[in-house]
Amino acid sequence: MSERLPMIAGNWKMHKTRADGVALAEAVSCAAAEAEGVEVMIAPPFTALSEVGRAISAGPVMLGAQNIHPAEQGAFTGEISAAMLKDVGVSYVLTGHSERRHIMGESDAFIREKTAAALAAGLRPVLCIGETLEQRQTGQTSGVLTGQLEAGLAGLEPDDGQALVIAYEPVWAIGTGQTASPETAQQAHALIRSRLAARYGNGLAKQIRILYGGSVNGGNVKDLMARPDIDGALVGGASLTAEDFSVIVRFRD
Ligand code: PGA
Repeated sequence: MSERLPMIAGNWKMHKTRADGVALAEAVSCAAAEAEGVEVMIAPPFTALSEVGRAISAGPVMLGAQNIHPAEQGAFTGEISAAMLKDVGVSYVLTGHSERRHIMGESDAFIREKTAAALAAGLRPVLCIGETLEQRQTGQTSGVLTGQLEAGLAGLEPDDGQALVIAYEPVWAIGTGQTASPETAQQAHALIRSRLAARYGNGLAKQIRILYGGSVNGGNVKDLMARPDIDGALVGGASLTAEDFSVIVRFRD
């Protein structure tokens, strides 16, 4: 079990209307209120952020956004700034999710700008990194993870470990039902932590949470969370129903 405060985060992706989101958020709040020693975050779509934020404002669930634009404001049709996210109560924001890297074509440089903008605004970025199946099969996993991490954090100096969260999300495990084994995930997490230590020193690297994402569910969360460098989970599919997500939130039971 990790020495850091575990975090269970739900990435709703492009799911949930406002009413459905509020109902789910209320149920997640109840589950989180009963779970001790875990921080819970949910990331609804932009359209539901405000209402979901109100529904969970009494705590303990934190509000996350799925995306951010690095500019403060301007002519960026369809985009959302850090200030707009803060205005509706957002604390966390995903950057570098594989769906944005691979479907929307976001580059490491753009992801770095987003991560920087989030940190500068006092939002906590969850920087997602992960290799594709082909990259894993051709022995490129370490290089890809190191490259995405270094590029995503280039020049950035979080002054406190809570400000930055990393998510290891192997692309081949996302939405496929094919979870990385706890050993495979732990190996990747240990590598990531060693790179963080090289960059920020051991003290800060030990505070930064590294979440695992990729087909996490109620049946595999405990084994994953038992590993020393796995500090939480970023959950997609299983975050969409209160029943499934509550089991993950209560992984200690
Ligand atoms: P999944 O998605 O849990 O449905 O695999 C995880 C993610 O994309 O963050």
